[in-house]
Amino acid sequence: MSDIMSMLTTRAAEAEDVLNEYLPSETGYQKKVIEAMNYSLMAGGKRIRPVLMKEVYRLLGGKDAAVIEPFMAAIEMIHTYSLVHDDLPAMDNDEYRRGRKTTHVVYGPGMATLAGDGLLNYAYEVAMKSFFSGVKLPAYDGDIEDRTATALTILAEKAGIYGMVGGQCADIEAEGKKEVDSKELIFIHENKTAAMLESSMMIGAVLAGADKAQVLEIEQAARKIGVAFQIQDDILDVTGDEKELGKPILSDEKNEKTTYVTLHGLEESKKDVERLSKEAEDMLSKIEGSREFLIPLVDWMISRNK
Ligand code: IPE
Ligand code: IPE
Ligand code: MG
Ligand code: MG
Ligand code: MG
Repeated sequence: MSDIMSMLTTRAAEAEDVLNEYLPSETGYQKKVIEAMNYSLMAGGKRIRPVLMKEVYRLLGGKDAAVIEPFMAAIEMIHTYSLVHDDLPAMDNDEYRRGRKTTHVVYGPGMATLAGDGLLNYAYEVAMKSFFSGVKLPAYDGDIEDRTATALTILAEKAGIYGMVGGQCADIEAEGKKEVDSKELIFIHENKTAAMLESSMMIGAVLAGADKAQVLEIEQAARKIGVAFQIQDDILDVTGDEKELGKPILSDEKNEKTTYVTLHGLEESKKDVERLSKEAEDMLSKIEGSREFLIPLVDWMISRNK
């Protein structure tokens, strides 16, 4: 295993331990929906969002598990909900995810819809535990002085209509459409995918004590990483291996999606992935220690096969 893979494996396992601590217990008349939530959460997945969040937090001087961990669990819950809903018959209609049957195949579309709703809402219930960390954070120079409230605002906005949900809306509207231009496609990629990576890295920075200028710079870097990550996802939908990916290939073609690959071709797509990640890495290299893990992780994220 390469160094970066073994480091990522260790950190992803740590993120999973955090997630485990916050899993709702499967009891009561609502047991079924909680089972479906935990089924999709614990199916595996690369856990790159909580790992990125934690690494930015650590690099910028954050030291308190009780501050960052609720947000690490929350971002993975929101991301997982987005996958459960993305796979529904009414959306991408895919039956395989994270190497298992999708949630709606196992629990039915109604229960899968609720599991997504449950994960989204529970994410905020968990994130709010950070208010009770007992750690006094310095004032933030943005619109809201309180750093935990700022982080919560980022978490909500980047997942919502001005973030992931907005991107998924444009993604559905573009289905089957002949003339999707590159401006519309960039909107889709920046919102459906980059927004959640922006959220992860910005929250890490805010909670670690970064100032607004630095948080905005990290947002820009994360946007480039996010767009590159989605272009790579589009590439893997064509060139990937289902077993390794843990999800079906050719889903985009089946759904008549315009992707970066259909618009620009494979070669240009690969070049743009390289260019965007290089630009992001140049920005991140200003952070001391970023060459230890953060920059290699970005490199891996865009050259990955899974
Ligand atoms: C899949 O995200 C959806 C996209 C935004 C491309 P990941 O590739 O991070 O999926 P998991 O979490 O590892 O399953
Ligand atoms: C979805 O993009 C991004 C989400 C917000 C879930 P895709 O539809 O391409 O993601 P995959 O390929 O199913 O993981
Ligand atoms: Mg989709
Ligand atoms: Mg999909
Ligand atoms: Mg895809």
